Amino acid sequence: MAFPEHRPRRLRRTSALRRLVAEVGLSVDDLVAPLFVKEGIVEPEPVASMPGVVQHTHESLRKEVRALADLGVPAVVLFGVPALKDANGSQADAPDGVVQIALRNLRDEVDDSLALIADTCLDEYTDHGHCGVLGATGDVDNDATLERYAAAAVAQAEAGADIVAPSGMMDGQVAAIRQALDDTGHADVAILAYAAKYASALYGPFRDAAECAPSFGDRRGYQMDPSNTREAVVEAGLDIDEGADIVMVKPALAYLDVVAELRRSFDAPVAAYHVSGEYSMLKAAAQQGWIDGDAVAREHLLSIKRAGADFILTYLAREFAERLRES
Ligand code: PBG
Repeated sequence: MAFPEHRPRRLRRTSALRRLVAEVGLSVDDLVAPLFVKEGIVEPEPVASMPGVVQHTHESLRKEVRALADLGVPAVVLFGVPALKDANGSQADAPDGVVQIALRNLRDEVDDSLALIADTCLDEYTDHGHCGVLGATGDVDNDATLERYAAAAVAQAEAGADIVAPSGMMDGQVAAIRQALDDTGHADVAILAYAAKYASALYGPFRDAAECAPSFGDRRGYQMDPSNTREAVVEAGLDIDEGADIVMVKPALAYLDVVAELRRSFDAPVAAYHVSGEYSMLKAAAQQGWIDGDAVAREHLLSIKRAGADFILTYLAREFAERLRES
């Protein structure tokens, strides 16, 4: 009988051996928690399609971010749900807009122990739900939108954001924001560019949480086509040239090839957004008892790290940070 010459199983025999040769791991430093804050509510409101996720009041947001900071989570990303929506998304850059108030409160709460990221977009703030302002034809007007993004980013920087994260996929958005930040004395504020954001059906639950489903049409005129990988490399290259400090792929699991491609192509940090639909599918199957939710969550997040992401925006951040602390 011929015995195998090579025996990779030797290093799988015990947990200690497996840990010793693990190629990637998950640490609390890899996690960023996306959080929603809504104007005009007195109690946090659960988001039905995202079990465990709520729309926060300013007070409950403050507590949540305190808890995350105490767990060692390095950053949160904030999304605002304003009481007033209009055609231009005027609350996006209002000094007393919901996210600006939240940023000031949180800066005060956590100092520099946790980084504050603000999503910079208009869809939460426009009455039509599109990510920009509309031109005469009813399409999103790219260049008019850039001025709104620049104003929103400056308002977020003045309120204490460490990082602004333009998510609207307008051409030139990183350059416009970088210029506006530099011109207003915010050269230290970094840009996390949603460089390769796909027109995905996986954002459905987020649109419940942020109350921002488009009232007509869809986002395929500005978000990327799911067929394309090379285009993602072009997009990320443009963003880096325009001054992006970090490039992001979104969603994550269905686009791990894109994460790997950006990792190979660029030296800038690469982030991935494990989005609402990815979270909700996992939670739904776990609630049914059809999968072991904790185990699948770990496997999914590990796969994103293995593909090459430096960190992950995920609604699992809090529960994962708690689990990492226990282990
Ligand atoms: C747009 C934005 C969206 C998400 C983050 N930023 C929604 C969209 O493009 O429709 C989705 C995030 C998620 O699904 O978790 N401001």
